[in-house]
Amino acid sequence: MSSFFWMPICPLFLSFCTIVVSGQCFGNQQSLLLQLKNNLIFDSALSAKLVHWNQSADCCSWEGVTCEEGRVIGLDLTNESISGGLEYSSSLFSLQHLQNLSLGYNNFNKSQIPSELDKLMNLRFLNLSNAGFAGQIPIAISHLRSLVSLDLSTSYFVKTPLKLENPNLNTLVQNLSELIELLLDGVNISAQGNEWCRALSSSLLNLRVLSLSNSYLSGPIDSTLLKLQSLSIIRLDNNNLFTPIPEFFANFTKLMSLRLSFCGLIGTFPRKIFQDHLLAISWGKNFHRRQAHRNKDGGIGCILEILFVLLKFQTMLLDHVYLVSIPLVLDQDFLVNAFGSVDD
Ligand SMILES: *[C@@H]1O[C@H](CO)[C@@H](O)[C@H](O)[C@H]1NC(C)=O
Ligand SMILES: *[C@@H]1O[C@H](CO)[C@@H](O)[C@H](O)[C@H]1NC(C)=O
Ligand SMILES: *[C@@H]1O[C@H](CO)[C@@H](O)[C@H](O)[C@H]1NC(C)=O
Ligand SMILES: *[C@@H]1O[C@H](CO)[C@@H](O)[C@H](O)[C@H]1NC(C)=O
Ligand SMILES: *[C@@H]1O[C@H](CO)[C@@H](O)[C@H](O)[C@H]1NC(C)=O
Ligand SMILES: *[C@@H]1O[C@H](CO)[C@@H](O)[C@H](O)[C@H]1NC(C)=O
Ligand SMILES: *[C@@H]1O[C@H](CO)[C@@H](O)[C@H](O)[C@H]1NC(C)=O
Ligand SMILES: *[C@@H]1O[C@H](CO)[C@@H](O)[C@H](O)[C@H]1NC(C)=O
Repeated sequence: MSSFFWMPICPLFLSFCTIVVSGQCFGNQQSLLLQLKNNLIFDSALSAKLVHWNQSADCCSWEGVTCEEGRVIGLDLTNESISGGLEYSSSLFSLQHLQNLSLGYNNFNKSQIPSELDKLMNLRFLNLSNAGFAGQIPIAISHLRSLVSLDLSTSYFVKTPLKLENPNLNTLVQNLSELIELLLDGVNISAQGNEWCRALSSSLLNLRVLSLSNSYLSGPIDSTLLKLQSLSIIRLDNNNLFTPIPEFFANFTKLMSLRLSFCGLIGTFPRKIFQDHLLAISWGKNFHRRQAHRNKDGGIGCILEILFVLLKFQTMLLDHVYLVSIPLVLDQDFLVNAFGSVDD
């Protein structure tokens, strides 16, 4: 319909026509992006995308920008050496059609995550990992009901981590029921097992990836977590759980990867977890018996990092499967039972 309408006047308004028909950048989107570029503080020597944004090309062709029908729906400014300027810029928050926003691997210099983010109600993917934000995570994030992926993780140790105090985890995720991935590694959640497990399990029924390494969590791991039956990746390493590994981990039927290293886990690793899931594994070349012995002798407590793969994924096995270290409590007998023959 619309192309039929424009066709006769194309020769007369050639440039205008091109813009409309091929669905390129709408005028206001381009000026919003240029304003954003002007407001952001970044090192142009290290920038690969922002630094090249200019009028000479249509904004939908700029690096880091994704459009749909002339509207900016994706903005990826990962690793652009940005150190500030969001607070002076309303233009980012005027890009109403944004679905993806990545500002990860920048250095926002311990400033707060901007509260204006809740103007971007269409956001589905928000990635602020390793961006140098600090302080309380704003309530604004909890208003982004369309989010399917939220990554606020920090992968290295920081002295002033992001924190979830007010709002707490429960409030943050209360209405984020679409979430499939939640990564809060390094965020100071500071919650007991019954709190964080219940907060997650009462809201995030679609969750497949849960990553809470180094999040100041305490144990025990509450069985309400089992409501999250879509979980396929669980990372809880580097928390002070001080708890036995619950046998009910065997009841996550889709679980493929479980990280529990440096959690202060105690007791015996429940064989049931292996019996239900691990029978399918042929262990192959990634397993080193020698390392098992070393840890056994080292007496470091329970250090466990296991990827395990279910029967139906058998075809993609082997190279993805590895056992980084073995907890004290596993004896050689057990390993052979669980994994079949062990390469030397
Ligand atoms: C970030 O960009 C720099 C080059 O400016 C590159 O050396 C570095 O590997 C990049 N880091 C990430 C995490 O992509
Ligand atoms: C302006 O944009 C064009 C097209 O993206 C690019 O080739 C050119 O290098 C840019 N100019 C500057 C000064 O970055
Ligand atoms: C948003 O990010 C997801 C995951 O990285 C990707 O699959 C999707 O294509 C992206 N969409 C846009 C509009 O950039
Ligand atoms: C980071 O913030 C501190 C004070 O809060 C300031 O002195 C410093 O210049 C800022 N660094 C950058 C790169 O903006
Ligand atoms: C967030 O961005 C970083 C850097 O590009 C990437 O490594 C990470 O996988 C992204 N997170 C998600 C959940 O996709
Ligand atoms: C979640 O939604 C309910 C109902 O719309 C609302 O009352 C509540 O304040 C919302 N919670 C947050 C944290 O936004
Ligand atoms: C984490 O938060 C708790 C509770 O607010 C606080 O007592 C603790 O000092 C915080 N830890 C860090 C490393 O910020
Ligand atoms: C786990 O599943 C078994 C049956 O496979 C069941 O007996 C047990 O009660 C379940 N555990 C929990 C905590 O739901």
